[in-house]
Amino acid sequence: PLKDFSFISQTLEAKLEALQCHFTWELNPSESKLLLLREILEDIGTEEGNSWLGHIYNLRGYIQYKLGFTEDSQSLFNQATEALRLTRGAEEGPWLVVNYGNLAWLHHHLGEQEESQAYLSKVDALMKKYPSPSQDELHPEILAEIAWTLMKFSAKQRLLAAVYFERAIRTQTDMVEWNTSRVLALESASKDPENKVEVDILKEMEDAKKRDPENLYLAALYLEACAKKIRFDIKEEARELGREVLKRPVSSYSGNTPILRLYRKNGLKDEAIELAEEALRRHPGERFLKWSAANCYKWVLEDRKDPALQKEIDRGISLCKEVISLYSHHSLKIKIALANMYLLLNNQDEAEKIFVELHKIKDLEEAELKLLNINCRKIFQM
Ligand SMILES: *[C@@H]1O[C@H](CO)[C@@H](O)[C@H](O)[C@H]1NC(C)=O
Repeated sequence: PLKDFSFISQTLEAKLEALQCHFTWELNPSESKLLLLREILEDIGTEEGNSWLGHIYNLRGYIQYKLGFTEDSQSLFNQATEALRLTRGAEEGPWLVVNYGNLAWLHHHLGEQEESQAYLSKVDALMKKYPSPSQDELHPEILAEIAWTLMKFSAKQRLLAAVYFERAIRTQTDMVEWNTSRVLALESASKDPENKVEVDILKEMEDAKKRDPENLYLAALYLEACAKKIRFDIKEEARELGREVLKRPVSSYSGNTPILRLYRKNGLKDEAIELAEEALRRHPGERFLKWSAANCYKWVLEDRKDPALQKEIDRGISLCKEVISLYSHHSLKIKIALANMYLLLNNQDEAEKIFVELHKIKDLEEAELKLLNINCRKIFQM
């Protein structure tokens, strides 16, 4: 009779379940969340020196698996391995545990049990060789990757992300980007009135800025918070950050978005257009910069609903159209902006067409639906 080998696969499953990786973190994303996140992650940019590159590839690999692109998933997990080696400057280390865990799961799902088993053994070996410095706590590298992933996953989980970063920093204090991200997560969480953030965010940001002076993203948020709390004129500082961000490699992590928001909130909307256009001149192919530029036109046109701004309206419309064609998924806001620009041209038909289309989308989130309805009322009541 055939021997019963089912106990082997059982232990394999149990071992897989015990891994720390994206497949076991109960992320439970909806399909629209996955599609949205995929495009956001593609925009982060993969320039050398981005210390999150490994985590980015790991998450992108997981997303592609969930969306059914297993080949792409495998190649992204392999890119994660390489990126982690590069950023950590070593062939192996505890920072590979999550990545190998993902690969063990992927091979298991593909029916390749031997490969899966091989990655399980590699994880075992890493855990033995690099045990967590703190006995009843996960390895800080794992905690930090959980934190970063939660932070990307949803605004609702930012507070939890900050807690994970804190746990990571408690046992390993030398990673400046963990410290910075902890503060960024706290800052973001503090904007949600449901979260009770007890720390002094401004002070935390000030300290973080001293430790990580090169981070323009943080610098922009800090300046924004200062302006709000102390109410001084920050135009000149904002312009300086604007000049600085142009010199950086293009990435949605470079600080471009919060810097343009600073311009917007501090009476520099026309200069925001100039800055966004200059960035585009330097990197004409970047869809993410086209999106920022389209937003800048939207801000100016919202303020001055003036059909005489013909040049701005034309440019705004053409940018919006391009952005919509470059992103398949998260173009709701930009489509609403486009509809509003058509209204400035008295083109009610085109505007209505867009709204009819948008109302066919099924899985909008609550906030999106609200935004859509507010704008819709505006248009159809004219
Ligand atoms: C990160 O923060 C901790 C706790 O505040 C501190 O002890 C550590 O020196 C900081 N690390 C870096 C690299 O700035």
